[in-house]
Amino acid sequence: MSSNVSSHIDPIEGDFHLTNYQKTHDNFSWEDAKKLLSYGKTGKLNAAYETIDRHVDEGYGEKIALHYVDENGTKSLTFREVKAETDKYAQILKENGVKKGDRVFVFLPKTAECYIAILSVIKVGAIAGPLFEAFMEDAIKDRINDCTGSLLITDHELVKRVPQADIPSLETILYVEDIAKEDRTGNHGNELVEWVDPEDGLIIHYTSGSTGKPKGVLHAHRSTVHHIVTGKWVLDIHDEDVYWCTSHPGWVTGSVYGLFAPWLNRATIVIQGGRFKAENWYQLMEDLKVTIWYSAPTAFRMLMSQGDLHEKYDLSSLRHVLSVGEPLNPEVITWAHKKLQVRIHDTWWMTETGGHLIVNLPSEKIKPGSMGRAFPGIEVGILNANGEKLPAGEVGQLAVKAPWPGLMKEIWGNEDKFKSYFIYEGWYISGDLAYQDEEGHVFFQGRSDDMINSAGERIGPFEVESKLIEHPAVAEAGVVGKPDEVRGEIVKAFITLRPGFLASDNLKEEIRLFVRKNLSAHAAPREIEIVEDLPKTKISGKILRRQLKALEVEKQAVKS
Ligand code: WTA
Repeated sequence: MSSNVSSHIDPIEGDFHLTNYQKTHDNFSWEDAKKLLSYGKTGKLNAAYETIDRHVDEGYGEKIALHYVDENGTKSLTFREVKAETDKYAQILKENGVKKGDRVFVFLPKTAECYIAILSVIKVGAIAGPLFEAFMEDAIKDRINDCTGSLLITDHELVKRVPQADIPSLETILYVEDIAKEDRTGNHGNELVEWVDPEDGLIIHYTSGSTGKPKGVLHAHRSTVHHIVTGKWVLDIHDEDVYWCTSHPGWVTGSVYGLFAPWLNRATIVIQGGRFKAENWYQLMEDLKVTIWYSAPTAFRMLMSQGDLHEKYDLSSLRHVLSVGEPLNPEVITWAHKKLQVRIHDTWWMTETGGHLIVNLPSEKIKPGSMGRAFPGIEVGILNANGEKLPAGEVGQLAVKAPWPGLMKEIWGNEDKFKSYFIYEGWYISGDLAYQDEEGHVFFQGRSDDMINSAGERIGPFEVESKLIEHPAVAEAGVVGKPDEVRGEIVKAFITLRPGFLASDNLKEEIRLFVRKNLSAHAAPREIEIVEDLPKTKISGKILRRQLKALEVEKQAVKS
């Protein structure tokens, strides 16, 4: 198969911080990064120590670590204060019997406590399991049960969605409101830090694929090396930066590039909860003088649809903007360049890869339509069905030479799944399809499986289908991603009804809410179509999602 997409848009040349970037980061390597961390000195490390406590030990305790913004205003904490808070939480975790390697979940909105709770879990050597705040009962139950989480940190509101009786491993629930009331000084040295091996478990993120329930992608403490290096090179963090990543730590972007990478590089981070609102986002950037901003194409498209709204705000502090999670349209890059006077730097990686692999470094030209080039030290390959490298211009499987420091350690309890990423000797297979041009720029062409990407969030069709057929009216279901201008794709469900049920808009809405209420809002189908029957394979009778998807794409083409 040959590519039919070529970038006709002129590249945008590398920008002003070229020299700054070169001076600061030249010759910085994975090995150098280890030396910045205790890893390089003792062979042991602790990601929570490296992320926060190290800065206090190195004399930066009074630097602002975070600004937390909500409707009541802005609250700021220094690195010393964040350390004290994580110490306090860590003490309480220890008193509750948490030991190295235990799985401890954190289910909180995007607040300072969410970040502190995650770090405290890591500090005592346990594995942090952050959960996205919009998850509902089944999503929570499946995840905690899968890796037998023993403790949960949440609040009095979100706990209502935790079906405790169905999670036998869960022994303890701690509430942030109660921890806040406890009066104890968190002024500890390093005695609460559990020094671990680079291969020890750090964080587990559940992510969706095309089959089965979400899988627990386990990362090790060694990922810290990947985080600190890409934080310097790709996020381009310097001491004076105010950094804002819009993702919730329940997603990998929110933990790796919302928490670890910026704090490893001692940035002041911004934490803002709540839903997207263009005015609030621009206002926040003006008020806090955000310099680096990491978000997703859906958000940029939503801002773009607001016309000249940006003109009301002073965004002059913004110097570096990055994007991830879904294809970034050339129009968005051009819009931001013209209207906001910034280049948007696309980045490609996955929950499984644990850090950036394909990037647009600040110093390099951007080719709109391309995700960028392999990060220095990373080898990207476009492979054919035999695992052989294809020449430039040919579309194939996007693969990366393994390993690298951030690569996942395992898929929890599922070795077969883990192995399925490495079917060709030496390569990690992403499941994405892409081609590379002569200069090594990578152009995304789609997924090779049925995984849905809506607003940058991975949604497994199987998970949604399973929930749909639990509804009494639904006989069968096939779920696909339908192309959408703003969200990239939306979740669309084709269903057949059980005898005795009549198709109606009310029924469709009821079914949609059923998924929303039990699974999560982001996975609930935005569109439901009731059909007479679903296309299936002749032999196994499996529903042919591909055919349903092709139909949707065709309909779209006719419309435009
Ligand atoms: C997609 C998010 C196009 C891709 C960090 C990948 C992208 C999946 C890009 C991983 C990009 C990620 N352009 N598509 N720049 N970045 N993707 O695990 O299909 O939530 O396999 O990790 O998102 O999503 P995940």
